[in-house]
Amino acid sequence: MEGKRGNGDNSGSEDTSRTGSADTSREKDREADLLESDLTRRGFLEGTGAALVVAGVPTLGTAEISPATVVAQEPAAVPQTTIRVTVNGNRERVEVEDRWTLNELLRDHFGLTGSKIGCNRGECGACTVLLDGEPVYSCSTLAVWADGREIVTVEGLEDDGDVSPLQQAFMDHNAPQCGFCTPGQLMTATALLERNPRPTTAEVREAMVGNLCRCSNYNAIVEAVLAAAGSPGGAA
Ligand code: FES
Ligand code: FES
Repeated sequence: MEGKRGNGDNSGSEDTSRTGSADTSREKDREADLLESDLTRRGFLEGTGAALVVAGVPTLGTAEISPATVVAQEPAAVPQTTIRVTVNGNRERVEVEDRWTLNELLRDHFGLTGSKIGCNRGECGACTVLLDGEPVYSCSTLAVWADGREIVTVEGLEDDGDVSPLQQAFMDHNAPQCGFCTPGQLMTATALLERNPRPTTAEVREAMVGNLCRCSNYNAIVEAVLAAAGSPGGAA
């Protein structure tokens, strides 16, 4: 009996031992499952994260503007032309880019900064210079178009350090307020007086219509032009 019990106990012990083994085995299996599942989840998260990072990177034109492509690009050659101009009585031979405006040539390359840039699109007249005696907007005239021609800027109005009678009249009549439009006004008025030395008030106003004055000092400007002409003025 005892033996049996013992056996039974032993059997019980063996059963218990087998049960313990089975439990241990299951635990190991579970740990392995968890480990595998953890690895799988980590792998998934890492993979997904990488995918999200990749997805979050802007891909605009990646293929077209790779660094290798940028390095390989040569700046496009800018067409250039050699022109000959007379500027305020001085003959000049100069190489210009075909895209330069006359104003760029005068201001940036000859240092004649009298002509101003107001609108830069042919509306205000601040950039006016004379081209073969005619007032033109230098912001809207290509430098190559001046080839072989004569240019006069506001710097060319003085004579041996003396201002012209028109410039003096502008000062006498307070025609410049801020003065920004004044060089352009002077050039247009100079051209007018060259072709019409005794203009009427209406003729002055008509001739100056392409030169805006943001200070609205138009009456003084017209008075100055009439004074320079020695003209009595009048509406007609
Ligand atoms: S700057 Fe040339 S017209 Fe205004
Ligand atoms: S004086 Fe100022 S814009 Fe004419």
